[in-house]
Amino acid sequence: MNSTTPIIAPSLLASDFSNMGDSIRKIQEAKADWVHFDIMDGNFVPPITFGHKMVKDLRPLSKQFYDVHLMVNQPEKHIDDFIDAGADNITIHYESTTHVHRLITSIKKSGKNAGITLVPSTPASQLKELLPFVDLVLVMSVNPGYGGQVLIENTLEKVSYFKEIREKMGYNYKIEIDGGINKNTFDAARKAGVDVFVMGSAFFDEKNPDDLVKWCKNR
Ligand code: DX5
Ligand code: ZN
Repeated sequence: MNSTTPIIAPSLLASDFSNMGDSIRKIQEAKADWVHFDIMDGNFVPPITFGHKMVKDLRPLSKQFYDVHLMVNQPEKHIDDFIDAGADNITIHYESTTHVHRLITSIKKSGKNAGITLVPSTPASQLKELLPFVDLVLVMSVNPGYGGQVLIENTLEKVSYFKEIREKMGYNYKIEIDGGINKNTFDAARKAGVDVFVMGSAFFDEKNPDDLVKWCKNR
């Protein structure tokens, strides 16, 4: 398995929206590492979740790494708002805009981390030209838009692909996985080469999320 300790990133998508402050505290008490914000515009994906104000209002509550996943069309229109709101990483979908390289570069110029992600039907090779510039590659292991789905097995091959390229070319992006990650799928994802594990329902449906985080960190 990987040498580094797994990074656990609970997704607020699966939390109680009527009490987001509590959700942040839950993530802190469980000693998870990142907070994953699933931003959905009702366009790129059918549901609408929340916008940059959620990041801004929750920023003072935690020092954890705020990991923003933009499932929105024309992300270029929203980047500055999320930078100002206090995001630490902003991940955009390859399929959501034409000038991806330009957008990744402008996120980096702001001093924030820049991530790229792809839906399950987009081949991993499509990201080749972007890999030298990104800090994070997010492999969607479900079709974006909904929590609580089942992991799509062959997306793990993309994880191995990005791991091999990183080693061969000396890139230093982290590999993150998002969708259907729980105690049954964690080991396969880790073996494929995942560094950062997004968990929505597995974390927030769990009675003792701190035990889950401990379990993951000891795998
Ligand atoms: C899909 C979302 C979900 C969520 C994780 O657009 O990105 O993948 O974060 O949901 P679970 O962990 O419940 O599959
Ligand atoms: Zn996500």
